[in-house]
Amino acid sequence: MDNPQQDFVAGSSGKAPEDLRDMVDLVSLCKRRGFVFPSSEIYGGINACWDYGPLGVTLKHQMKSLWWEVMVRRPDIEGLDSAILMHPQIWKASGHVDGFSDPLVDCKDCKSRFRADHLQTLNCPQCEGELTEPRQFQLMFKTHMGPLEDQGSLVYLRPETAQGIFVNFVNVCQSARQKVPFGIAQIGKAFRNEITPGNFIFRTREFEQMEMQYFVEPGTDEYWFDVWKERRFQWHVDHGLRPHKLRFQEHGPHELAHYAKAAFDIQYEFPFGWQELEGIHNRTDFDLKRHAEFSSKKLDYFDALSGKHYLPYVIETSVGCDRSILAVLVDAYRFDGERTWLQLHPRLAPYEVAVFSLMKKPELQQYADRIVQDIYQKLRITTDHTGSIGKRYRRQDEIGTPLGVTIDYETLVDHTVTIRHRDTMLQTRVPSEQLVAFVTEQFRNW
Ligand code: GAP
Repeated sequence: MDNPQQDFVAGSSGKAPEDLRDMVDLVSLCKRRGFVFPSSEIYGGINACWDYGPLGVTLKHQMKSLWWEVMVRRPDIEGLDSAILMHPQIWKASGHVDGFSDPLVDCKDCKSRFRADHLQTLNCPQCEGELTEPRQFQLMFKTHMGPLEDQGSLVYLRPETAQGIFVNFVNVCQSARQKVPFGIAQIGKAFRNEITPGNFIFRTREFEQMEMQYFVEPGTDEYWFDVWKERRFQWHVDHGLRPHKLRFQEHGPHELAHYAKAAFDIQYEFPFGWQELEGIHNRTDFDLKRHAEFSSKKLDYFDALSGKHYLPYVIETSVGCDRSILAVLVDAYRFDGERTWLQLHPRLAPYEVAVFSLMKKPELQQYADRIVQDIYQKLRITTDHTGSIGKRYRRQDEIGTPLGVTIDYETLVDHTVTIRHRDTMLQTRVPSEQLVAFVTEQFRNW
């Protein structure tokens, strides 16, 4: 059987495909094809909030399950789903009430707002007007619990999922009978009242984080920091980001968050420059110590082997799901002058296979329907029976479907189907009864 990947050739025109240059092209594709819509659009939209459409939500689901499989399906890591609304003292203890703010400046002339630490100059980048003195702007969203809107009912929307993990450290450790070193991981929404959100889903006010806290014995923290740094970099490569678009960036002493002893960002080269995709932090025992102090509860760990009690140090890996999706879409985007396609990894593509009948003829469609019935529980599939086959292939290319399966008149005679490869556009014929095995094998070697 031909292997369509062996003879890889660049796009249809034979020209080397180009990467995404302008975010406008991606935002437009995402809207048109149902990956991401502007939120509340019929009311004129709401700044920096986005809705995931049918394809986007599948991509997001795949992204989260890829992370979960690697991060939680391990003997040394447990999953958690803590509440978004938590006791307000948690944010006092964590340092967020006093320290989680950005320096805000306004232009005195055009009234634009900026984060002072993002500016290269002392004047307004829009109109060169004079800027106000920086003032600290609290990034946590506030709301009230219960019927009274007074100070006593104040609660926060969590700005990171991590604190839900720290305050459940003892619960998880005891219930799961884990021994240090071990981790707790969760995926969930976080909210930040960002001063300058933007770049599509890169920086938003509501987003999802995929975070893991790895609890280790003090003194072993630097070893585990290096281990998780490398593992997390590799994860991004494994689901398809090109390694030359990724790099580590170490935080200097003045950039470190209030809780961190050491921190590295994994950065991706977006069309708008190198930017943080994931943070790896050595949070020491800062959080557990503060929660022990503020709650007056013992949060230390008893090591039965050594007979020692200690507060574990924490290595944190923290990646935005939405930001990962943006990196994956940017990285996958290809245009060769005629054709646009998303070179998504099959694990992430919203559909793994598109099933077509060559023409809109009942006998071909019935055959296609039978194939769909046979495979839809094993593969993520879609169908499309109208329009020219060329246009239908292009539609699937644009949403990153790796393989197309076409039923034609030959199929009715010899029960073989054509399989077309998204990236090479090469085709091969496969017995329809071997379809799932063939596709699975292709994906294994992708
Ligand atoms: N618990 C540590 C923490 O939250 P962070 O560097 O502030 O660290 C971690 O955030 C990750 O969360 C970032 O690397 C980014 O992927 C994502 N993230 C942070 N703020 C975001 C925002 N406003 N919009 C989208 N993603 C964001």
